[in-house]
Amino acid sequence: MQVKLCVVSNAGGSGKTTLSVHLAYEICKHGYSVALIDLDPQGSLSLFCGLGQPTPEDTLAAVLDEDFTGDWPLVKCWTDKTKKVDVCQGGLILTQTTQEISLHPRGAYLLADRFADHPLNHDLIIFDCPATLGPLPLIALAASTHILVPVQLEPKSVQGSSKLMEWLYLSKKQLRLTPEPELLGFVPNQYDARRAAQRQILEAIPEKLRQMHITCFPAIRDSAEFVNASAQGLPLHLYRSSHPACKDFKAITKVLMQLVKR
Ligand SMILES: Nc1ncnc2c1ncn2[C@@H]1O[C@H](COP(=O)(O)OP(=O)(O)OP(=O)(O)O)[C@@H](O)[C@H]1O
Ligand SMILES: [Mg+2]
Repeated sequence: MQVKLCVVSNAGGSGKTTLSVHLAYEICKHGYSVALIDLDPQGSLSLFCGLGQPTPEDTLAAVLDEDFTGDWPLVKCWTDKTKKVDVCQGGLILTQTTQEISLHPRGAYLLADRFADHPLNHDLIIFDCPATLGPLPLIALAASTHILVPVQLEPKSVQGSSKLMEWLYLSKKQLRLTPEPELLGFVPNQYDARRAAQRQILEAIPEKLRQMHITCFPAIRDSAEFVNASAQGLPLHLYRSSHPACKDFKAITKVLMQLVKR
């Protein structure tokens, strides 16, 4: 099946873009094609993929425009290593798009409508959402088949997750999505085992999530090399392939692989 994965969280810096980029690379390594779609006005996906800042016509804003004719503005990234990853870039122009979504009669369904009218044939499509619970993540949610939530192991982020869960529940209900996108799970990120507070939260989270029938994936460890890799526009795998944190994405990759193979 074609998986459309909404990587979403209302917490800034929780690892949405990092997760999007690393999952894209993991899946492409297995021979599947991936489209990374940046819904963030910050446009940090461009940086993480080693791409320059696009002109507004070469962003997702053009796709959401009334006059879009199906020519998706996709650019390839990490071309030395793969031809399987395409990026639809975001950027500041999306702040204007936010207002247009709010005023449009099809509002929340605008992106889903584009996929219905002008489908992409990638095996996996990843929506990298901004850290809000506004119109941009809402159009991603309405276009998604699955949802993934990165969370930092801090009380503030964990508390913010309950707000996100409320938003997900209410939005899915209000949008009347059929089928509803499935929550694949939470991904604890930037785990530093030396910090007692983080260890305690990591011990408590899986049980709390289990009570809500939500999967908690193994944590992605904290490493300064993630920042270094993204500064070079690379996933950690291409920056330091032997780094132990490369393995931290395996469990999520396995689940995604099972879905795309379906
Ligand atoms: N496991 C990790 N260890 C260390 N640093 C990390 C890790 N994951 C992400 N980072 C760094 O933390 C910062 C925030 O990560 P990222 O940009 O992926 O979060 P985000 O949720 O997309 O942020 P935003 O809400 O601004 O879109 C980045 O500098 C990134 O390189
Ligand atoms: Mg981001």
